[in-house]
Amino acid sequence: MSFNTIYLMLMSVRMAPRLPLIFLLMIHGVFSAGWGVNYSHSHICALKNSSVIMSCNYTYPTGYKIEKVFWTKNLGKGVESPDLSEDPEYSQRLQYLGDKQQNCTVRLNHVTQKDEHEYCFRFITNVTDGKWTGVPGMNLTVTDLQVESPERVTEGDSVRLTCNSSCTLTDRATFIWYRNSQPLTERRDRNNELLLQSVRREDAGRYSCALHGHTYISPAVHLNVT
Ligand SMILES: *[C@@H]1O[C@H](CO)[C@@H](O)[C@H](O)[C@H]1NC(C)=O
Ligand SMILES: *[C@@H]1O[C@H](CO)[C@@H](O)[C@H](O)[C@H]1NC(C)=O
Ligand SMILES: *[C@@H]1O[C@H](CO)[C@@H](O)[C@H](O)[C@H]1NC(C)=O
Repeated sequence: MSFNTIYLMLMSVRMAPRLPLIFLLMIHGVFSAGWGVNYSHSHICALKNSSVIMSCNYTYPTGYKIEKVFWTKNLGKGVESPDLSEDPEYSQRLQYLGDKQQNCTVRLNHVTQKDEHEYCFRFITNVTDGKWTGVPGMNLTVTDLQVESPERVTEGDSVRLTCNSSCTLTDRATFIWYRNSQPLTERRDRNNELLLQSVRREDAGRYSCALHGHTYISPAVHLNVT
């Protein structure tokens, strides 16, 4: 039973000693629903070096005042929650966009594979023990892009190149393709596929893919046409 529930029950009992039990149970229900953090996603898959926005809002019983808000990594039970804005690995890249009322949105820039963790929002009120960590939090996965292509094709073949990510990207961005670093305009079948119909020798080259509006580009893959 949380601190505030006990507190309210004691208060209620003191103020009205003969309150029916049912009323106390009602108070319990209403107020224990008062503490919480709602995340927009339980999992985010982001492209390497991109900026990730983790959106959430938080609630607490009326009358409490928020004194401190911060994001933390879920390091498991019994481990102190670190304030990531004080962690040199994060402090330059983390930007709190929320407020001290209900919005706890944060942005993390230039994500790398090392950032793959479960992140949680924590807030502390002016009341002793009036603290809350929103667990489970939000899992971040960071992916790169890899071109999948047949190694060797024959002139006239129809060739499909795929731009693979290790998780399904949360932001539905548009894929772009390059041959020898030049952007391509060939027709796509599905968003992450490039279809080369009836390949010619001129189609040979180094292919790479990227996401529109992002800096990361996949390693190039060589396509030979014989
Ligand atoms: C929370 O704040 C962010 C950043 O300012 C904003 O984009 C978002 O719309 C806000 N969310 C709500 C529910 O107000
Ligand atoms: C995050 O991933 C870990 C490990 O796979 C899992 O135990 C945890 O439940 C996940 N958290 C959420 C919020 O999905
Ligand atoms: C990462 O992104 C920044 C801009 O957001 C860019 O200047 C930098 O070159 C990128 N780094 C890589 C390795 O793509």
